[in-house]
Amino acid sequence: MKKIVVAIDGPAGAGKSTIAKLVAERLGYAYIDTGAMYRSVAWRFLQTGQPFDETFISHLANTMVIQFKPEAKVNRVFVDGQEVTDAIRSTEVTANVSRVAAIGAVREAMVEQQRRMGDAGGVLMDGRDIGTVVFPNAQLKIFLTASVEERAQRRYKELLAKGEQVDLVQLQQDIADRDKQDSERAIAPLRQAEDALLLDTSHMNIEQVTEKILQLVEERAQ
Ligand code: DC
Repeated sequence: MKKIVVAIDGPAGAGKSTIAKLVAERLGYAYIDTGAMYRSVAWRFLQTGQPFDETFISHLANTMVIQFKPEAKVNRVFVDGQEVTDAIRSTEVTANVSRVAAIGAVREAMVEQQRRMGDAGGVLMDGRDIGTVVFPNAQLKIFLTASVEERAQRRYKELLAKGEQVDLVQLQQDIADRDKQDSERAIAPLRQAEDALLLDTSHMNIEQVTEKILQLVEERAQ
């Protein structure tokens, strides 16, 4: 079988990273979580304590080194050699990442790295603009989504399991806000590529979605 590029896009909390990681493992493909890259830039910026400034943040994005170290359970993330796997999932980073990801020069820096990582094929990349901007010629494009209610429920259970105190209504509002910001930004907004397959997972479990995508990869990689 050929080693293809699989682009998985969709809104926050649709299960992209869980699914992409499982599918990548089954196929022996690399998994690139592009959201983690934008989160790393937001984290780096927050570390500086400086006021929000596009030129400054773009400079950071162009000079910092982001690395992934895939392990059985987690995809570890490092910025300039420092582990940020958990830090980039903090509420503070989550609250700031959309406006960092809306900066054109930040996106250019990330997209260039993403293309380099995926060029040889055999990769699953998830994000918001993979099928539309990063790999418009990807052999398989999937737009993974689920209702806002379902996505909030899933995140709620995930956070509860980690022992975090969360308010479901607030979570739903945050997800809806992030969808709006990501879909309405001027550069590379979240949208389904014309040739992407829409997969609504509201009524599917992880195993069903994984099997469906594996089957699609098998077809496209012939
Ligand atoms: O998937 P996530 O929640 O980790 O993504 C974090 C943020 O980064 C989210 O607000 C959207 C943005 N993002 C993006 O603009 N483009 C991507 N390819 C991936 C994520």
